Amino acid sequence: MSEKKGFIEVIDFHKSFGSKKVHQGVNFFVRKGECLGLIGGSGTGKSVLLRSLVGLEKPERGQILIEGVDIVPMKERQLVEIRKKVAYAFQGGALFDSMTVFENLAYPLREHFGFSEKEIHKQIMEQLKEFGLEGSEKTLPGNLSGGMQKRVGLARAMMMHPEVVLYDEPTAGLDPYNTKRIQESILSLKEKGVTSILVTHDMPTVYAVCDKVALLQQGRIGEQYTIEKLRQEPPGAMSQFINGESA
Ligand SMILES: Nc1ncnc2c1ncn2[C@@H]1O[C@H](COP(=O)(O)OP(=O)(O)O)[C@@H](O)[C@H]1O
Ligand SMILES: [Mg+2]
Repeated sequence: MSEKKGFIEVIDFHKSFGSKKVHQGVNFFVRKGECLGLIGGSGTGKSVLLRSLVGLEKPERGQILIEGVDIVPMKERQLVEIRKKVAYAFQGGALFDSMTVFENLAYPLREHFGFSEKEIHKQIMEQLKEFGLEGSEKTLPGNLSGGMQKRVGLARAMMMHPEVVLYDEPTAGLDPYNTKRIQESILSLKEKGVTSILVTHDMPTVYAVCDKVALLQQGRIGEQYTIEKLRQEPPGAMSQFINGESA
């Protein structure tokens, strides 16, 4: 095994769909408590990479180390344990439409822990307050605004108190107010020591919450910089991408 570089480490990751090579040797790591911003054009494989980090996709080649342990060869039973530690906040929220907000949040707790209903109720009420969702517990997701749905999705992913959170475009389509609320939630989790990867096209959010940024381009991490470096002297390919001069 390679020298341990971070809480999450992806080594020589290759993934294809049919003849289409999406990832052709992706390498990066994220240290404990750090937030990595992952940017790149549409269809470059950002979501597939996140899905792979919770074992929902398998690469043809490469390793995905979580705390030094490769999850690629793991069977579903072991992956269930990994998903308690690593939460994937899906693009679009992926809420159960026919369940109330309360039931959506209760789902992971009932699935994974033996809490009493009283304890579940207490935890959910606290969580709704934390995410500014008080009073929405009896509402169906379809009757909430897009911004609130995203927050419910995030609140649900957080019910398990994960050590890692993978955010897939959490602010896409949100107005500035809801974008700010999401940024605040990400920062508050970061203060609690949560390690994260943020996939987004929203550069202000990257600047607000990330420690470093990587650009996924042509199947590889083309460039990677710390936020400080990015602020000081905008580098080549990443600068072009951010300024809309390349895909
Ligand atoms: N299940 C799948 N079957 C076939 N192709 C897929 C599948 N999932 C993703 N892809 C393809 O992989 C590429 C990367 O997808 P994705 O990770 O969703 O991109 P991004 O999130 O960067 O926009 C796209 O070309 C997409 O069409
Ligand atoms: Mg995507």
